[in-house]
Amino acid sequence: RNLVVLSISGSLRNQSINSRLLSSIEGIMPTGVEFRRYDGLARLPHFSPDLDADEAEPHEAVYEWREQLRSADAIIICTPEYARGVPGSLKNALDWVVSSSEFMNMPTAVISASPHPDGGTTALASLILTLKMMSAAIPDEATLAVPFVSKKLDPDGSVIDMNTLSSLGNLVRALIQSLR
Ligand code: FNR
Repeated sequence: RNLVVLSISGSLRNQSINSRLLSSIEGIMPTGVEFRRYDGLARLPHFSPDLDADEAEPHEAVYEWREQLRSADAIIICTPEYARGVPGSLKNALDWVVSSSEFMNMPTAVISASPHPDGGTTALASLILTLKMMSAAIPDEATLAVPFVSKKLDPDGSVIDMNTLSSLGNLVRALIQSLR
């Protein structure tokens, strides 16, 4: 069967740069890899341990989120930085899988993209801490901050900056190699 890479954008915005960057990454996936998108962040309820308790009514969106993660061989997250942190909707989704452990040993690549010079490195570092706490397997070369991202994509979302293209290629290679 094909390897399944599940991508998650940390932005809910229609014209999100992070979502567009994921589209470019789909274009550089090796053959034999099925690239999927998780688009359910906004459907998830706000996490509470009460809702997650054994006796609680299971929530459809939570079930779907966990199923999508379980059916993936690897994950790529691409997120903006909001006020130096991980956007709340993405953090909320991650909080839903702390106890159910879908990220345990999951090969995971993590990208932050920002129009600002710093590239969202603070949110990126925070996201990596969270994922490592959940025992995700993040290959050394599978993390990337993309600064000045608005100058690096053309209007249809293709990456036009050669350094970024090469960094994304390295990231994909590191992620896929870690599956073998
Ligand atoms: C931002 N932005 C931002 N950028 C950054 O580099 N560091 C930051 O702390 C923040 N904080 C922040 C907060 C909020 C509420 C918004 C809406 C934006 C700017 C952000 O990087 C920019 O809007 C990106 O385009 C957002 O990513 P998407 O939605 O295009 O993927």
